[in-house]
Amino acid sequence: MQGKRILLIVGGGIAAYKSLDLVRRLKERGASVRVILTSGGAEFVTPLSFSVLSEEKTFTDLFDLKDEAEIGHIRLSREADLVVVAPATADLLAKMAHGLADDLASTVLLATDKTVLVAPAMNVRMWQHAATQRNLGTLRADRIHVVGPDEGEMACGEYGPGRMTEPAAIVEAIGALLGAKAAAPRATPRLVSDSAKPLSGRHVLITSGPTQEPIDPVRYIANRSSGKQGHALAKAAAALGAEVTLVSGPVTLPDPQGVRVVKVDTAHEMLAAVEAALPADIAICAAAVADWRAADEAPHKLKKPRQVSEATLKLSLNPDILSTLAKKGPKRPRLVIGFAAETEDLIENATAKRARKGADWIVANDVWPGTGAMGGDQTQIHLITAQGVEDWPAMSKDEMAARLLARVADAFAAMRPAAE
Ligand SMILES: Cc1cc2nc3c(=O)[nH]c(=O)nc-3n(C[C@H](O)[C@H](O)[C@H](O)COP(=O)(O)O)c2cc1C
Repeated sequence: MQGKRILLIVGGGIAAYKSLDLVRRLKERGASVRVILTSGGAEFVTPLSFSVLSEEKTFTDLFDLKDEAEIGHIRLSREADLVVVAPATADLLAKMAHGLADDLASTVLLATDKTVLVAPAMNVRMWQHAATQRNLGTLRADRIHVVGPDEGEMACGEYGPGRMTEPAAIVEAIGALLGAKAAAPRATPRLVSDSAKPLSGRHVLITSGPTQEPIDPVRYIANRSSGKQGHALAKAAAALGAEVTLVSGPVTLPDPQGVRVVKVDTAHEMLAAVEAALPADIAICAAAVADWRAADEAPHKLKKPRQVSEATLKLSLNPDILSTLAKKGPKRPRLVIGFAAETEDLIENATAKRARKGADWIVANDVWPGTGAMGGDQTQIHLITAQGVEDWPAMSKDEMAARLLARVADAFAAMRPAAE
């Protein structure tokens, strides 16, 4: 972090006092820090405290004539390597999501093309409010990096997610972003430069496609999954530098480049391939695994019985790959992500699935035939995490994969190192 320039924006929340410690820690690591304090922030901590710790002037006013003679708000952004908003209030997140620029902090945030990291902090109800979650979804789609919030006791006496992540963890996230040069400029969110490899050294295990469960040598049970989403995720993970194992059911897609592909037919084979690929840092179960298989696979082609208009096929339950991977234990990947394809009560069912299976995140998508999601190139997902539900806009499966993997890289960078 030596010599790096951090522009820290401090919003009006109780957690503003923790940002004094953040400045101290960044300075200790050799970074220079400039602080913009919102007028709300100045109700909690003084500009003087930040000036003393940062050894720089603290900026508060958009219309400060001396600074604006040099277009101060542009200069502040230009002279930074990274912009950090901590605490990021609900208000600042809303302004950022909507492109408002009515004070120095929000104007700089709209004018910057630098990587931006936000550390939200607010009351649990403000955090869980649909408007805040919608804004978060927009910001993540805009490639704003998010660290936290943590769950715990709050200053207002309530308990839940909303506490600002501790300064040490924010410093770690900053280090990861600076070290990995993780984000492409926000103006060109789809581009990832060669040096942007935030997942390098990580093993990402991805399942993709349908499974085929044989009934007899010529017939099988399957579904309409094309594997487009899982394969796009594998490509996106490889683009971020990960070592990728893609366990794929039968698909007609080419193997993604730079990815180890293991081809399987059945759910049992997929589970065996997944277990053989462990350990992994991150697992993403995008395959549409058949829940059921024929209880007794016939060794020969089944004949149509004469004068019988109905027949019964006995089914057996298939293994649950997502639950198996998410089970607590030494082999559990640190981040386990499942997919939930539903045709009704999408959010309710997907939220229940997250809890039931023990997954960290669930990517929920509506696969009602009219949506074209199953087999098509477009998707519209809801990301369900411990913090709540994010509604993402409709986009191509490639774009969704790039955004989800950028999000995974952020989350992984913010995690504490695994115990050896
Ligand atoms: C005592 C007190 C504590 C507050 N804490 C928070 C908080 O933790 N997070 C938040 O988003 N807003 C909090 N607010 C509300 C913000 O201060 C308010 O929305 C303000 O307009 C934010 O301004 P800013 O986003 O420009 O900093 C608090 C307000 C008060 C009076």
